[in-house]
Amino acid sequence: MVKTKTIYICSNCKTESPKWQGKCNQCNEWGTFTEEISLDKKNTFHSQNKISSKPQSLFKTSNQEDSRILTEFNDFNTLLGGGFKQGGLTLLSGEPGVGKSTLTLQICKNAAEKVNQVFYFSGEESPEQIASRAERLKISNQNIQIVSETNLEAILNHLNLHQPEFVIIDSIQVLNSGDIPSLAGSINQVRYCTECLMGYAKNNNCTMIIIGHITKDGHLAGPKLLEHLVDTVLFIEGDRMQNYRIIRSLKNRFGSTNEISIMEMQGIGLKEMANPSKIFLEGRNPNAIGSAITVTMEGAKPILLEVQALTHPTAFGYPKRTASGYDLNRTNLLAAVLGKYLKMNLNSQDLYINIIGGLKLRDTSSDLAVAMAIISSFKKIIIPSQTLFLGEIGLSGEIRNIPYLEKRLKEAKKLGFEKFIIPRSDKKIKDTFQVKNLEEAVKLLT
Ligand code: TYD
Ligand code: MG
Repeated sequence: MVKTKTIYICSNCKTESPKWQGKCNQCNEWGTFTEEISLDKKNTFHSQNKISSKPQSLFKTSNQEDSRILTEFNDFNTLLGGGFKQGGLTLLSGEPGVGKSTLTLQICKNAAEKVNQVFYFSGEESPEQIASRAERLKISNQNIQIVSETNLEAILNHLNLHQPEFVIIDSIQVLNSGDIPSLAGSINQVRYCTECLMGYAKNNNCTMIIIGHITKDGHLAGPKLLEHLVDTVLFIEGDRMQNYRIIRSLKNRFGSTNEISIMEMQGIGLKEMANPSKIFLEGRNPNAIGSAITVTMEGAKPILLEVQALTHPTAFGYPKRTASGYDLNRTNLLAAVLGKYLKMNLNSQDLYINIIGGLKLRDTSSDLAVAMAIISSFKKIIIPSQTLFLGEIGLSGEIRNIPYLEKRLKEAKKLGFEKFIIPRSDKKIKDTFQVKNLEEAVKLLT
């Protein structure tokens, strides 16, 4: 048994204290200290003077075959750097209900065709629940074993006994080890269980996916501490009310972190969207006011999106500003720029911005499209449907250059767009109207 002592940790900023405190001295939050058990490191690592590892030539090591386990999703494979690396440890995180268990079960289906045995340890659902989901996903491989277990030592015993090559842990927050006297989901349990599982995976060349829930503020429960331990961190993003899911890699020792995979949750599991731009523009009314199209970059992928804006006279005093899928501060900034340089009086107008499809626009290159959607709604001008806007707006109303311009234009042309309003530059590009400021862009509409 590892020696321990009790400490108190602020759940907001993770400050440690030997005594309970009502208010945290670091972040000034009240009532955030919770009791945790701290490992006594002097006693934990006393037997480290024995050598268990052996040196090997770097050349020989780097020439080892790069064996990968592919999934049914093409972009997802690319995101992983060409499939799951054998012996790699992946952390799959996301909010509850976003589709982590569904995705891993679909991954198991492909893994089971390549490796001997796949083990799925579930502490959250019963084998019957998983089996009924598998039936829905049309998975019938015989070599996927489901184990309903939350005890770490029991899981390690199963692993040592059966030596599966592909393992899923669903989820790390429900695991507990008898060595650590705190509750499942506590920082110590999560860290200790991950370290033990990592030790097993590395020593046995076992490919492992650990599922981890994130807290409301977007952090992995057990403050980002798992991220540096694992090889790959994947994050599923998406609104439970919408069907789209974006999978990003926040860290990848075996590939780039610039790729994404966009999937749609269907009745029979997740399906990768081959042409997301086309789907996000489906159902658009070409004669609607307050609508403008832009191309955003999600990692290295250009995606066409519709921005909608609505201005409406304020009923009582203070105008309301709401943005869904777009930054509210940026909305206020654009409203101020439009007021100052185009003399648009938005002070007595409520303003709503919406990005269609439930996606989030983080890219300032879409500023021009958002501004145009607001202008279109305010002045009741219809923007011709094959027109597209690209450009960042500066505080003096100027339209500034953006990265990946040609890549974005190419994607838009593929979908039939003909008129491109873009920032002015020395280089002339076919079919584009290059504008220096908002006034020039507005003139092109009338
Ligand atoms: P789940 O994988 O259980 O989420 P997580 O493990 O991240 O908590 O997915 C839950 C949601 O996905 C649930 O609301 C139902 C939906 N779903 C589908 O729409 N289609 C399907 O084929 C499956 C299996 C789930
Ligand atoms: Mg789940």
